[in-house]
Amino acid sequence: MTARKILATSALPYANGPIHLGHLVEYIQTDIWTRFQKQRGHECYYVCADDTHGTPIMLRADREGITPEQLIANVEQEHRADFAEFGVDFDHYHSTHSTENKELSALIYTRLRDRGHIDKRTITQAYDPVKEMFLPDRFIKGDCPKCGATDQYGDNCEVCGATYSPTELKNAVSAVSGEKPIEKDSEHYFFNLADFADLLKDWTTAEGHLQPEVRNKMSEWLENGLQQWDISRDAPYFGFEIPDAPGKYFYVWLDAPVGYMASFKNFCEQNNKDFDAFWNKHSQTELYHFIGKDIIYFHALFWPAMLSGADFRTPSAVFAHGFLTVNGEKMSKSRGTFIKARTYLEHLNPEYLRYYFAAKLSNGVEDIDLNFEDFSQRVNSDLVGKVVNIASRCSGFIKKRFDGTLAGECAEPALFQQFIDANEHIAQLYENREFGKAMREIMALADKANQYIDDKKPWLIAKEEGKDEELHAICSMGINLFRVLVAYLKPVIPALAENAEAFLNIPAQPWPSHAEPLLGHNINKFKPLMTRVEPDKIEAIIEASKENLTQESKPVEKKWDPIAETIEFDDFAKIDLRIAKIVKAEHVEGADKLLQLTVDIGDETRNIFAGIKSAYQPEDLEGKLTVVVANLKPRKMRFGLSEGMLLAAGPGGKDLWILNPEQGAQAGMRIK
Ligand code: MSP
Ligand code: ZN
Repeated sequence: MTARKILATSALPYANGPIHLGHLVEYIQTDIWTRFQKQRGHECYYVCADDTHGTPIMLRADREGITPEQLIANVEQEHRADFAEFGVDFDHYHSTHSTENKELSALIYTRLRDRGHIDKRTITQAYDPVKEMFLPDRFIKGDCPKCGATDQYGDNCEVCGATYSPTELKNAVSAVSGEKPIEKDSEHYFFNLADFADLLKDWTTAEGHLQPEVRNKMSEWLENGLQQWDISRDAPYFGFEIPDAPGKYFYVWLDAPVGYMASFKNFCEQNNKDFDAFWNKHSQTELYHFIGKDIIYFHALFWPAMLSGADFRTPSAVFAHGFLTVNGEKMSKSRGTFIKARTYLEHLNPEYLRYYFAAKLSNGVEDIDLNFEDFSQRVNSDLVGKVVNIASRCSGFIKKRFDGTLAGECAEPALFQQFIDANEHIAQLYENREFGKAMREIMALADKANQYIDDKKPWLIAKEEGKDEELHAICSMGINLFRVLVAYLKPVIPALAENAEAFLNIPAQPWPSHAEPLLGHNINKFKPLMTRVEPDKIEAIIEASKENLTQESKPVEKKWDPIAETIEFDDFAKIDLRIAKIVKAEHVEGADKLLQLTVDIGDETRNIFAGIKSAYQPEDLEGKLTVVVANLKPRKMRFGLSEGMLLAAGPGGKDLWILNPEQGAQAGMRIK
């Protein structure tokens, strides 16, 4: 077998939020596949990066009062930690906000431009006049034009499912400022996808590039005609400026897939590998993109067109997967099923989830369901009950009775050979991303191993005189079968496999196509390799996920009361505000909130009761200038008549502030 050269990627996660269990379907799927290729001895690299550009990231940084660079640095740290703990073993993890990506994006763009694939055209879009930015559809909210549901996004209604353009939305407001959007013109840059219609027809229909169901979807899209793709955005935007267009930026989806190349380029530079060998137009290496079904359009149309238009190779295949549902429903924050990677890690072993996903994954695009009952049951019965159990049943006797040494001869060479012979079929299933079927094959072997032990009953033989050799042979056989099973499961549960290798006292196992039984070999003391799923931990995850109902899903959370309804100047002019000097301030017998103030408002003095006792002492106030409403109808209070109102800001208690005019203002002056 000659070693293949393979580069695999997972979609680059957005840097504006945490990794959740839905994302992990993809990263675990790709990780299993690339670990398998490496175990088979191929030269395989798995690269990824954070996808750092775009409006949501810019606005989130804005809201948090940090720069986008700080935000993406923080999120990258979290993403890396989550992936590492789930055993997702990238050869390289980079960022789209990198010099490699900037250069490669510019290179691809200028090549496309110089070959006439870029057009310019003025378009009209919604614009936020306060924030001074164009508004993507997601950042416009209003009432659905079809069903009238309030608080719907600019592109579709979550209540009735209607799709429309943001201009059709009723009572539309910018989700960023709350202001009514206006329409504004600007020049945009477009990629002429239609120039690549023939190429795309060939590429999408060629055997092996796409899954059959995806290929069909593509031919529908191709028949409907290819629209120009808008690749520019106006400032302010967090991204790369277009080389020949100051103030215009590449739309995030232009530079995001280039991030695959950029990550690999950075890896090659650091590890002295040949970048061009993988990306040149005539490359014989293999390139695979693992993605979710929601982003097929970008990967199966735009991306191959961009690559070939810029003289690079196209992908060997794009592998799409379905979406994760939890307990049969879309992940939901209120039901506690929108589970972050971090929340899971705080409670459960990550390899449970890796195995469960493997057991559910096929090479199709159907959604996959995480059902927690099924999850516990499969992990407990397959991994703990079948696989680990073989080692725990046999290792004790080997340690106690045979000094930790396995028998010098294989008791059942045919059975052992059966286990080895299964390797080709299992490998084929892994290769074709039929992980669920692979797990079933492996578990069928585990059943066979357990059946062997059940038949031989070493626990009975151990009690009989003169049957040492038989006991030794049976238990050694069990350990040898366990070892082959672990080799097959290694891409899925690498941490367990590593601990098992330490127990077996063997080096990291390659794919067991030529494995021989361990004979006369010393093993180490057995430690439990995996424990059963504790049901209360699952409860805890769901509980903790319910608390995550934060403002994350909403673009803007307002800190202050909304601004009151617009008034005419005449309405304002009715209010007579005066500079007042506090000449006397005193406590009021029996009132726990009020202070009694005597204020000079120029031509007269007034008696005012003000609810500011929680924040001010009388002696702090005497002699101060402030502002009062002088024409408010006098109000009779329990302690006397209040002939005006003092103005103050703040929520109350200690947090209350009266107003102080600048030096020079005099008691009696009107504020207008
Ligand atoms: N940034 C883009 C990808 C750019 S690739 C050049 C993006 N990011 S994402 O964070 O929204 O999603 C990353 C990957 O996770 C995508 O392939 C997406 O389909 C996948 N998933 C996100 N939620 C998912 C589920 N609930 N279930 C399965 N996969 C999901 O898209
Ligand atoms: Zn509607």
